[in-house]
Amino acid sequence: MYGLIRRMLFSLEPEKSHRIAKIAISSGLLRSQVTNNRLKTSVNGIQSDNPVGLAAGFDKDCEVFGNLARMGFGFVTVGSITKDKREGNPKPRIVRYPRDAALVNAMGLPSKGIDYCLKNLKSVETPVIASIASFDPYGIPLLHKAIEPLVSGVEINISSPTFRGTLEDASIVSSALSGIRNEKPLFLKIPHYTESERDSILSIIDGCKNAAIVAGNTKKVEEKSIAVGYGGLSGRPINGRALEIVKDIFDYTSGKKSIIACGGIFSGSDAYSALSAGADAVEIYTAFIYRGPFAATMINNELLRIMDDKQIMSVGEIRKA
Ligand SMILES: Cc1cc2nc3c(=O)[nH]c(=O)nc-3n(C[C@H](O)[C@H](O)[C@H](O)COP(=O)(O)O)c2cc1C
Repeated sequence: MYGLIRRMLFSLEPEKSHRIAKIAISSGLLRSQVTNNRLKTSVNGIQSDNPVGLAAGFDKDCEVFGNLARMGFGFVTVGSITKDKREGNPKPRIVRYPRDAALVNAMGLPSKGIDYCLKNLKSVETPVIASIASFDPYGIPLLHKAIEPLVSGVEINISSPTFRGTLEDASIVSSALSGIRNEKPLFLKIPHYTESERDSILSIIDGCKNAAIVAGNTKKVEEKSIAVGYGGLSGRPINGRALEIVKDIFDYTSGKKSIIACGGIFSGSDAYSALSAGADAVEIYTAFIYRGPFAATMINNELLRIMDDKQIMSVGEIRKA
């Protein structure tokens, strides 16, 4: 069924399909759920009914998260939210690669701004994590303070391709993050770092002691069909590196930090590999586009079948023993 709808949506320009998908989601008719205690997980203190969350970027302005929360996700990430309204990069800024089950985007962090998002946020039955982003790292503690009371946790985005320059001085990012006083779970979303970026990313992680890690964002690539000439690759091609990074962070922190794996997770088997590599949960974005509105439920059901075969009783048991 979704095959047909996908063909129709994929015949349109990606941002137009996104707007149509959001209208369909806001109808509230797309509902799905897997209820099985064996899927429950805890991520840095957030209790989630299942380990498959929605990654940041789909509901940037907190407009449909209440409905997304009823579509089988264990948790939903809204944002990334910036302080002021931003248009983002010029279009075209998303391109699809269906043969690779991939996307390249250079949205450039469009946002309706924090005041708009604060008006929309309300408590729903599924945990909601707000992703925040700021070009001035010292703006992050202020955004955090404003949004934390309204959500289950806050994710700091230091990883969009748009920002990579900011990371060149890890000490500035660390010093800015040290200004955060969190009462709710904190998450740091890191890039799919290269070997030469590893030390500065690890130093930021060290400085952000109580933050769980979301590993990670898209991979920066050159892309001629995008107006700015580059973008972030997401989907299947980045899954291998995403898992290497999860393993690296797990080993570096001796398994003491909660980790959410993100990057090219499409199936229960991908989720199982990510949990085995050391993650407590996974996040998806591109799989939601390619597999459809019930992607989270499909992944959870596939994961349950693997758990049955291996006689595993809980998600926690899968995490790197
Ligand atoms: C169109 C698009 C917009 C995105 N916007 C954001 C964003 O605003 N903030 C963020 O942290 N990540 C953003 N991402 C990255 C995703 O959250 C995710 O980290 C990345 O796509 C890798 O996961 P995937 O392979 O499951 O898509 C975006 C991704 C896409 C495709």
